[in-house]
Amino acid sequence: MDNRLTDINSSIEHINEISAWVSSVQDLDRLLELIIETATRMMDAKASSLLMLDHKTQKLYFKVATGVKGTDIKQFEIDLGQGIAGYVAQTGEPLLIPDVAEDPRWYKEISESIGFKTQSIACVPMKVNGEIIGVVEIIDKADGSSIRDEDLKILSVFADLAAQAIGNARKIEHDKKEIIDLKNELQSKYEIIGESKALRKVISDAIKVASSKSTTLILGESGTGKELLARLIHRVGPRKDEPMIVLNCAALPETLLEDELFGHEKGAYTGAVARKIGKFELADRGTIFLDEIGEMSPGMQSKLLRILQEGVFYRVGGNKAIPVDVRVISATNRNIEEDVAQGYFREDLYYRINVVQLQMPPLRERREDIALLAEHFLDIFKKERGTSNLVISKEAMDLMVEYDWPGNIREMKNALERAVVMGNGKQILPEDLPAFACTTQYPGLEVGLSLKEATDLFKKEFIVINLRHTEGNRSRAAKTMKIQRTYLSRLIAKYGIT
Ligand SMILES: Nc1ncnc2c1ncn2[C@@H]1O[C@H](COP(=O)(O)OP(=O)(O)O)[C@@H](O)[C@H]1O
Ligand SMILES: [Mg+2]
Repeated sequence: MDNRLTDINSSIEHINEISAWVSSVQDLDRLLELIIETATRMMDAKASSLLMLDHKTQKLYFKVATGVKGTDIKQFEIDLGQGIAGYVAQTGEPLLIPDVAEDPRWYKEISESIGFKTQSIACVPMKVNGEIIGVVEIIDKADGSSIRDEDLKILSVFADLAAQAIGNARKIEHDKKEIIDLKNELQSKYEIIGESKALRKVISDAIKVASSKSTTLILGESGTGKELLARLIHRVGPRKDEPMIVLNCAALPETLLEDELFGHEKGAYTGAVARKIGKFELADRGTIFLDEIGEMSPGMQSKLLRILQEGVFYRVGGNKAIPVDVRVISATNRNIEEDVAQGYFREDLYYRINVVQLQMPPLRERREDIALLAEHFLDIFKKERGTSNLVISKEAMDLMVEYDWPGNIREMKNALERAVVMGNGKQILPEDLPAFACTTQYPGLEVGLSLKEATDLFKKEFIVINLRHTEGNRSRAAKTMKIQRTYLSRLIAKYGIT
């Protein structure tokens, strides 16, 4: 009796250990071994094993096997439906077989080949969310007696534990993968594409200033990637694990901007029902990016100057000076020196925000980046739309490389997105890039032609682009142009379109 009690106590200890493991899942293989060993000991079985079902091969393989032949048996694989384990894995029903010799499902080759005499077997499925992922089985009692109904019940409990552990481990694996994917996606979202000397130079300067706290002013036309550069500075600098807060100074009128930047105390004004933390405070220890700073009103300019000089600020309606440690990066597409000269922008503030100045070159001054960027954006939009075979035609690429891109990379990104949506899904053609429509000549738009000649020229060109769009399919082209197919054929003959 005493012996039995110590056994139970040690089993309980093991179960407690298992519960702790199941909820944390540090090492799945060790945990599964522990579960099977404990089950074996509790039921006093001769051997036991855990088999996993590989859904691809439809085979069961031994993950854990105890007993004197435990190591030998691991080399075997069992087909789904084969033997008792295969039967349970296929049907999902637990089985108890007191005498295997009497059961036609018994697959004796394995136990014979390893020389393991078997009398009785109990086998139960492991399920995760109703799906069978494997089985657990035990063979005979150590004292030679047969496995009983109550053993089957105990075995089921352990099989559930094992299934739970496997389910948890898979979920953690899945979540980890998802986090990595998201991180990569985020990284690629902020990746700066381009090999031009001009871009490389500004990036290497940015990396140099990243380690310091010097205020940095990024100049450049709109859409050149100023915000992207600011993110790079934050990301490679010592503040990378703290937030980078973005504020667009042009988007808000002065009072709202002040509220956004500094926050307010409860009751600061009607409607201020609770304290609000402003962006400067949110950016503490991190970076604040003041976009379009050139649009800031004179009143806001003085308030910003004060926080830069003193390193403290006041919430609206508050009288407590709040210290912050914030790295300030600003950007503008305006000619800010001119604004200073004209008195629109405070000179003292300008010097404060402009300790380091970086200039983003416009796209037309780094045309060698255009093709790279085009392929990069095409990749992104292809993934989003699942049109994996889409390519950019040479004609369209030539046009893009020659175009001046007044809206820079933002314009290009938008143009490509539109081309992917509107195009034929196989090739991006010049006419899918409407940004250029205004730079290409309308056919027939010249003085000296009659109206009829001009419209004929236009019609011919119009039909050509529609046919190209449908890869020569006349029915579809006619449908797009809302004319009869027969009429289209007549026009094709008339204008000699090939
Ligand atoms: N070199 C680049 N590589 C990849 N994407 C870029 C690059 N430059 C700009 N972009 C993208 O173009 C858009 C405009 O960039 P942004 O940084 O907002 O420009 P700005 O702040 O100068 O107006 C954004 O979607 C940005 O991700
Ligand atoms: Mg911007």
